[in-house]
Amino acid sequence: MNLFNVYPLYEVCPVKAEDVWVWDDKGNTYLDFYGGHGVISIGHSHPKYVSALYNQLKKIGFYSNAVENPIQEALAGKLTQLSGYPDYNLFLCNSGAEANENALKLASFYNGKKRVLAFKNSFHGRTSGAVSVTDNPKIKAPVNQCNPVTFLPLNDSGMLVEELQKGDVSAIIIEGIQGVGGLDEGGSQFFRDVRQLTQEHSAILILDEIQSGYGRSGKFFAHQYHNIQPDIITMAKGMGNGFPIGGVLISPMFKAVYGMLGTTFGGNHLACVAGLSVLEVLEDEKLIEQVNKISDYFIEKAKKITQVKRIKGRGLMLGLEFDFEISELRKSLIYKHHIFTGGANNKKLLRILPPLTVKKEHVDIFFKALKDSLAGSPFNHVSL
Ligand SMILES: Cc1ncc(COP(=O)(O)O)c(C=O)c1O
Repeated sequence: MNLFNVYPLYEVCPVKAEDVWVWDDKGNTYLDFYGGHGVISIGHSHPKYVSALYNQLKKIGFYSNAVENPIQEALAGKLTQLSGYPDYNLFLCNSGAEANENALKLASFYNGKKRVLAFKNSFHGRTSGAVSVTDNPKIKAPVNQCNPVTFLPLNDSGMLVEELQKGDVSAIIIEGIQGVGGLDEGGSQFFRDVRQLTQEHSAILILDEIQSGYGRSGKFFAHQYHNIQPDIITMAKGMGNGFPIGGVLISPMFKAVYGMLGTTFGGNHLACVAGLSVLEVLEDEKLIEQVNKISDYFIEKAKKITQVKRIKGRGLMLGLEFDFEISELRKSLIYKHHIFTGGANNKKLLRILPPLTVKKEHVDIFFKALKDSLAGSPFNHVSL
C-alpha cells in the first residue's frame, strides 16, 4: 500500500532526537530550528516528559470521557497557574483544527449566529469549520464552503465596524501572531478595538494561540502583549511537545451542557500527562524568561545580516524576510549545514521556531551557517 502522497518531503529520516538535536538514520546530526511546525516546546525527548509518559503508559494509557480522570483536573490546575486565566474552563481535544472547530461551534451555540470574520492570510486548520476561516482557497473543497466567512485585512478597525454593524457575526477569529501566513500580527490598538467591538455587537472573540501560545511569543499567550481577554482561546502544538493534544479555554460566560462538545480521544491519560509535564518543565526551567533572552540575542545577530530585510514576530516565533524566495536557502541550511528551518505563505520569509530550550551557542551555529549559505550563493544578488 502506498501512502497518500500529499506531503513534499525533504530527504531526511529522523530516528532519534534530544533537546534541540535530531539524528537521522545515517547518523547525521541536525539542529532543530523549526520544532516540526512549532510543536517542540520543552525540547525533544525531555527526560521528565519521557518518564512521565512511560510511567503513565505502564498504569493506564486511555479510557474514555465517560469516567473520572484526575489528570485532566491536574492539567487544568497547572494551566490556571501559568496562563493567567483562573476562571476559564478547559475543553480538551486532539489537534489545533479541532480546537478551532469547537471554538467556532461554541460561539455559534452561544449567540445563534453564523457568519465569522477572519483575517487575510490566516491559517486555522484543515477540518471543515477551521478551513473555512483559513484564507487559502487551494485547501478548501466545495463541501467546506458552506459557512459564511468574511476575510478582512489586519489592523483595519473601520472595516470591522462595517461588518459587525450588519448584526449577523457570530465570531471573530484571529491568530495571536500569524504563523503559516508569515508572522504578521495585529497591533495593540487593533486587538483592543476587536475586543471592544465584539462586545458591543454580541460577537465572540476567538484567539487562536495554537502556534503563538505556550510561551513561544515570550508571554504565555501572544495576545497578553495587548492587555485583552478573549472569550475563547485555542491551543495545541507546544501544549504536548509532540504528543497530540489540543485545548479550548472558555470564558465562564459560556454555560456547559452535557453533550454540547465531545471527543473519544481528547483528554486521554497519556495526552494529559504529556500536557502536564510540558507545563511543569516550562515553569521549573523558567523557559519563558529564557525565550525572551534568546530572542533578543537572535534579533541582535539577525540585524547584522545585510541580506535580512525585515525581522518579524516575537519571542521564538520569528521570521527573517529576504528580498528573494528562500526555498533554496532552506535546502542549503538543511542539506549542507544540517539545520531545520521553516517556510511560510510569504515565500521570502524564513521561519524560525526552535524548541524553547534553545541556547545562545545554538543561535551562533545557526548564524554561522546562514552567513555561509548566503555568501557567494545565487541568493546573495538575486531579487525575485
Ligand atoms: C495558528 C494555527 N491554527 C491552527 C492550526 C492547525 O493545527 P493542527 O495542524 O494541529 O490541526 C495551525 C497549524 O499550523 C496553526 O498554525
